[in-house]
Amino acid sequence: MLKPHLIHHAPGAPGLRLLGLGPQLKPTKGLLKLQKLFNEHAFWAKKRKIKDLKHMLINSSVIISLWQNERIVGFGRATSDKTYRAVLWDVVIANDLQGLGFGRVLVDALINSPSIKNVERIYLMTTKSSDFYQQMNFKLSDNQSLLILKNKTNI
Ligand SMILES: CC(C)(COP(=O)(O)OP(=O)(O)OC[C@H]1O[C@@H](n2cnc3c(N)ncnc32)[C@H](O)[C@@H]1OP(=O)(O)O)[C@@H](O)C(=O)NCCC(=O)NCCS
Repeated sequence: MLKPHLIHHAPGAPGLRLLGLGPQLKPTKGLLKLQKLFNEHAFWAKKRKIKDLKHMLINSSVIISLWQNERIVGFGRATSDKTYRAVLWDVVIANDLQGLGFGRVLVDALINSPSIKNVERIYLMTTKSSDFYQQMNFKLSDNQSLLILKNKTNI
């Protein structure tokens, strides 16, 4: 199994966002590949538009991608105030490579990144992968509720 190449993107991921760079800073249509990864492997993030993905990247505090050669096989990002709270978003490993430890590598990299490692609490929401996060020491909240205000008509 080819060891994946992990990229800690600079804030806003300018290389990926503007030039589509992948590993070794090679142009590889990375943003289109990220869109495809979401479409095929992230049920909550299908049909995201390129312009919105760019906006998402600009406004994320931490962005990490995983590659095998020129294939993007994993992605995760976080927002953080660097002091009190951070939230993980859009953590995904391609279906055919799940269960091989890549998700753990990705989440470890997110929670140990400089913008996150010193916050009081790291939150995340998950529909199907609670057990995975519990293996990584996240605890199910027994005294808080998740409330959502859907303020866009298309979601
Ligand atoms: C959840 C996800 C990111 C995990 O990545 P992964 O590469 O498959 O996980 P890993 O192989 O690193 O697993 C790490 C540990 O968690 C366990 N694990 C992984 N997925 C699990 C699951 N769904 N239920 C229970 N345990 C799980 C593994 O057995 C492993 O345990 P071990 O270290 O004792 O062997 C990946 O399966 C995925 O992308 N799923 C679909 C998208 C998704 O649900 N993302 C989360 C959105 S919040």
